[in-house]
Formats: sequence, C-alpha cells, structure tokens
Amino acid sequence: MKESQHRATFGGRISAVLVAAGGAVGLGNIWRFPYVAGDNGGGAFLLIYILCILFLGLPLMIAEFSIGKATHRNAVGAFHLLDRRWSGIGYMGVLSSVLILGFYLVVAGWTAEYMIHSFTSDLVRQTSAEVHRHTFEAFITHPWKPVFYATLFAAATHLIVTLGVKEGIERAAKVMMPLLFLFLIVLSVHSMLLPGGIEGLRFFLTPDFSKVTASSVLTALGQSFFSLSIGLGTMITYASYFTPETSIRHTALHVTLLDTLVALLAGLMIFPAVFSAGIEPAAGPSLVFITLPTIFGSMPLGELWSTIFFLLLVIAALTSTISLHETVTAYLQEEWALSRFAAARCTTLFTALLGALASLSLGVLQEWRIGGLTLFDALDFVTANILLPLGGLLICVFVGWRWKRDEIASQLYAPTGGAHRRPGFSIFRFLVRYFCPVVMLLLFLDNLGWKLF
Ligand code: TRP
Repeated sequence: MKESQHRATFGGRISAVLVAAGGAVGLGNIWRFPYVAGDNGGGAFLLIYILCILFLGLPLMIAEFSIGKATHRNAVGAFHLLDRRWSGIGYMGVLSSVLILGFYLVVAGWTAEYMIHSFTSDLVRQTSAEVHRHTFEAFITHPWKPVFYATLFAAATHLIVTLGVKEGIERAAKVMMPLLFLFLIVLSVHSMLLPGGIEGLRFFLTPDFSKVTASSVLTALGQSFFSLSIGLGTMITYASYFTPETSIRHTALHVTLLDTLVALLAGLMIFPAVFSAGIEPAAGPSLVFITLPTIFGSMPLGELWSTIFFLLLVIAALTSTISLHETVTAYLQEEWALSRFAAARCTTLFTALLGALASLSLGVLQEWRIGGLTLFDALDFVTANILLPLGGLLICVFVGWRWKRDEIASQLYAPTGGAHRRPGFSIFRFLVRYFCPVVMLLLFLDNLGWKLF
C-alpha cells in the first residue's frame, strides 16, 4: 500500500469544494429529485427534504469527510486503519457504488442519446406526448442502443479516472461545474418566464401536508443521502485527497449548499415548464425524458433548449459516475495493490457489464425479476432505500460512539483546535450520537414493514 504522503491531493480549498460538489450534484438532483418531489406532494416534500439535508445529511457529510481526511485512505482502508471491526461499512460502500453505477450508467446513457438527438433535432420535432412516450420506450427497450450509450459513458468515466486524481478528476470538475451552473440558471430563468409557469412554482413551493406519509419521509431521507453522495464512502474517498488546509466544516457546508441549490433550481426549471404545458407533474422517472421533450417541442428554439438541457444532464451525470468509479478504483488500487490502470479497468469492465444487464432488464430481459422488480429497479431500490440509509446509520454510530471526542474535534478544528468551547461542535456531537441514529433507525424499521407511525 502506498504511503499517505505519496498520495495525490486536490489543489486546495476551492478545488475540494468543486470536486466534492461534482460528486454530489448529479442525476439525483436534476432527474430524480423533481419527479420524487412531484410524486410526494411538491412543497411539503421540499420542506422535509431540506430538514433531512440540514439535520441528517450535513452532519453525515462532515462525518465522512473526517474519516477520509484523518486516514488518507479509500473507504475500506480508512476503517482498516481506524478499527478493523468496522470495515464492513467500507465493503458495503464499495459494493453499493458498484450497484449504483449499474443503473446510473444506464440513465446517464439515455441522457447522452437524448442530447445527441436534440442536437440533430429529430427528437424535438415530434410534437405529441404520446409520440415522445413511444420514442422513449422504444429506445430504452431497444436491444443494443441503450447498452451502447451506457458503455460509452463508462468509457468516458474510465478515461477521466485513469488520468488521475488531479489531472483527471479535479480538472474535469473545474471545467464542468461552472458550465453546469451556467446552463442551469439560463434554463430555469427561461422556464419561469413561460406563460403559466407560475402555477408550477406554486406547486413546487406550497406545502400540502395531506400527501406526507412516513414513507415520503423515508423517501426524502433516501433522496437526500443519494443526492449528497453520502452513506457509502464516496465522500470518505474524496476527503482522503483533501490538503491539510482544507476545512472539513466549510467544505461540507458549501457542498451541501451547492447540491441543494442545484436541486432547487432543477425544480424551478422543470415544474413551471410542466405546468405551462398543462401536464401532470407526478410523471415518475420519465418526467425529463418524455414530458420535457414534449414541452421543448412546442417552444421557439426548442432544439437549442433541449440540447442545452440534456448536455446539462450529461455533465451532471459524468461528474457523479466519476465519483462512484473512484470509490471502487481507489479501493482496488490501495487494498489489492493494483496499478491505477488495472484498478480502473476492473471497475469499468464490471460496472459496464452490470449496466448492460440493467439496461437489458428493461427490454429483452424483462421477464427476469428480482423480488418482482427488474434488475434496473432493484438496483435503484436496494441502494437508495436500504444500503445508503444503513451505511449512513453505521457511519454515524462509528463517528458518534466509536471515535473519541478529541479525535473528531482535532479533525474538525484543525489546525487551530479549541473545539470544546464551540456550540457548533456540541450540536454536531448531539446529532451524530443521538438524533441521526435514532431517526434513521426508526425510519428504516418502518420501511422494512414495522409500522411505527
Ligand atoms: N449524488 C449523485 C447524484 O445526485 C449520485 C452519486 C454519486 C451517489 N456518488 C454517489 C449517490 C455516492 C450515493 C453515494 O446523482
């Protein structure tokens, strides 16, 4: 295993925020968040989501950053160094990264195909929602096209990861994140100015608590973990590349803010457009692939808006596939003593294969069910509803109970110290020791069928 001082680091504070925000911001914000919010009552969901981010997501991100920065190791190696008995968290994280990549590459592939089709403009020319639904279904069930695009995405991810932590991952984030924000702002302003768009804003921002159930709270929790990329060691891995000067608290706060801002902007971009076209907001996962192209089709310059929108999704997806890939690659490289190339190659081959199977499970392999779900849905369900909340719970318990108070304090307040006098530290300790584990455990049990609420 390489010594920590020979490990790569990110350039500095701003790079750390950009790279970690790149890992956090993804399809989860722009594709998943709007439809999950739409299915769960809009504004009320948004409110619960923000509470989850603040009281569960942020402390957990700080916890993951502390583990990574303290050890300078991958998700498994970090626990080997701190306490081997807890290594299971790391293994579960690496496994979850593989499983998430399995379905994520598929959706990422769809965005790439849609971007190319918007550009060549045959997509947007179709006008009715029915035709768009048909096009989308024909594409995702096609025997090889979606597999081809998912593989293309895996190859792009591979290329950037093999270029290295600094030359590949950091450089890519520095180019892509500013572009992502620019496109998102342009698109959301454009969308809010559409006639009738205000209705969409109202739906997105006005809470209706009659639609809220315990399961929507768990959905909000799962969504917040998924969106922040926490619960499986991605942030442990990224924080292992922080320089000593990088502040864990500030980075976590900035990344959380940026990630939530992107989800909000995605809502501000999508709901006004949906309402302006008079379409039902609870359209499920197909919201951005069927509903939005229909809307673009009826707009002046529809091809342009559509191309920018799908390019935005491609960028968001790519920075996230990179973070998931790196979680696995860093593990293989350091724990199996492989070269970076060999480690990345293993990760790419395996996840591209899983991606291909997940993609085919929507088409030719549709008969093939796991607990009634297609492989694609099973991967999404198991990771977002079980593995992420469970991983998050264990990381909290580890940092709250196993790690000594002074050790965390020295991570959080390095190099000045003085944590004992700060109220923020007491709040953090309370959240990771009591609040987060209890809330997560209750919701988790409820989700497994123990009806508590
Ligand atoms: N957060 C990313 C998104 O919103 C997805 C993602 C990347 C992720 N790395 C992760 C989710 C690690 C959970 C854990 O699209």
